[in-house]
Amino acid sequence: MKMIIDTDPGVDDAIAIALAHALPEINLIGLTTVFGNTRVDQSSRNARFLLDMLGSDAPVAEGAAKPWNDYPFEPSAWVHGPEGLGDLAEVPQIGKNHPLPAAEFLVEMARQHKGELVICAIAPLTNIADALALDPEFADNLGKLVIMGGNLHCPGNITEYAEANIYHDPNAADAVFASNLKTVMVGLDVTLQTLLVPEDFAALAASAPTTGGFINRISEFYLKFYKEVANLDGCPMHDAAAILACSDPDWFGHETTGLKVSSDGDNIGATLADTSRPNVQVATKIDAKAALSKLKSALSHLH
Ligand code: BDR
Ligand code: CA
Repeated sequence: MKMIIDTDPGVDDAIAIALAHALPEINLIGLTTVFGNTRVDQSSRNARFLLDMLGSDAPVAEGAAKPWNDYPFEPSAWVHGPEGLGDLAEVPQIGKNHPLPAAEFLVEMARQHKGELVICAIAPLTNIADALALDPEFADNLGKLVIMGGNLHCPGNITEYAEANIYHDPNAADAVFASNLKTVMVGLDVTLQTLLVPEDFAALAASAPTTGGFINRISEFYLKFYKEVANLDGCPMHDAAAILACSDPDWFGHETTGLKVSSDGDNIGATLADTSRPNVQVATKIDAKAALSKLKSALSHLH
């Protein structure tokens, strides 16, 4: 499967990228970056650093630095750390970004791999909405869009109503749900069931000292956040769940509905059913045991 991950790494993004790299059924043809957990320049730097650590030569195309319509934005340093990778104070600058901006890269790749490309978007949807605005054929050319974001039957995580990726750019997310893209939404309804606990990270560090050791290190900050804020003894693998929805769709149960995103009021950023919109496959069930076991096994085989 040819895949581009649109990302804002981010602790769980880093794990999702490592998973995609580890799975033989995924051919990672690039990463596109966006603001979100971090500023976009931090996202790109982190993405290049992670790919280098994994031994991947996939390109990184940098995208949007801010949301549509001058919507306010602040990086989520309290969740993912000041540089996006836990308590790491410095992340090396390795290599350079691809010359094309993210939206152009997405448009070009969707055209080149017509009908075959899967974009797994695990960050605010600004680059995807920009690609739609750039090329009227983008929705037709793209094989599938799988997003980590939103919440249908459960509360939000950044507010009572909204999930963070959608909340960070509600207008762009709404444009994506209004489009004819073939979209699968993997939101909090399922990702909150994919918890890894400290023992899982320790085991990973033992079996894959470099990559697993790094994931173990950056996860400490993320685990602490979930303990303090939600009193959870583990942390959800939000973004990795979206990768697994690409590789193993049968482990997910779906509801089919159109969606819109609230753009004002208390529930700004909420994903709401709207039957006048094109259908989206919304994941509402997950075989979390199978998903977590595949995640742990794939990561344990890294170096
Ligand atoms: C999403 O928001 C970010 O903090 C995570 O990386 C994930 O993509 C979860 O709501
Ligand atoms: Ca993310």
